[in-house]
Amino acid sequence: MTMGSVGLGSAVLFLASFVALLCVCSASSDAPRGVAVGFVFDPRAKCDPPCKHAGICIRNNTCFCSKGYEGETCQYATCYPKCKNGGECLRPGKCRCAPGFGGRYCHKVTCDGGCWNGGECIAVNGVVKCICPSSWTGSKCQEAICPQGCRNGGICVAPGICSCLEGWLGGACHAAVCAQPCLNGGKCISPDKCRCRPPFSGPRCEERKKSH
Ligand SMILES: *[C@@H]1O[C@H](CO)[C@@H](O)[C@H](O)[C@H]1NC(C)=O
Repeated sequence: MTMGSVGLGSAVLFLASFVALLCVCSASSDAPRGVAVGFVFDPRAKCDPPCKHAGICIRNNTCFCSKGYEGETCQYATCYPKCKNGGECLRPGKCRCAPGFGGRYCHKVTCDGGCWNGGECIAVNGVVKCICPSSWTGSKCQEAICPQGCRNGGICVAPGICSCLEGWLGGACHAAVCAQPCLNGGKCISPDKCRCRPPFSGPRCEERKKSH
């Protein structure tokens, strides 16, 4: 008994030198959390539920947590610096970050898949998104903007640049192409189709209608 007390006393002294870094957490007593107290180490103390993460049961239902843990049963890991942006501390110094954040302390903003075409990944009110340069849009700034529009099945492939279907030309794919030009003032209105001026007709408006 005497030997046991001496041994325990040394243990308490040894632990007391770390008290500033440690935490006394109590489920049932009125000892404040996270404050060093002159505790009595009771060798028969029972902690139920037991102290987690190598915490020591120093009194009935009072755990003495090892560094990096806190809570009534030392169940919570603590991270310094704290996990930012809603990250969760998994174990001391290890954060699990909320979606859209990364880095050791979840302090970095990360856009899934990145931002293309000079877009910038930023967080606005906790929402992470790409801010696109003008003339690009989409969640990753992957879509070019053609202010003129791309008509007749054309698609916008770069800012202001349409890729046109065969038979169409022009900045907005608005001009039809007639392989054979329309004659006599006729107009090419769709690929290889002329609209003729009276009194002309025919595929290229080359025929003059007989008048009665
Ligand atoms: C701790 O609890 C046990 C039973 O759970 C009890 O016998 C003992 O007296 C308690 N110790 C103190 C110091 O309250």
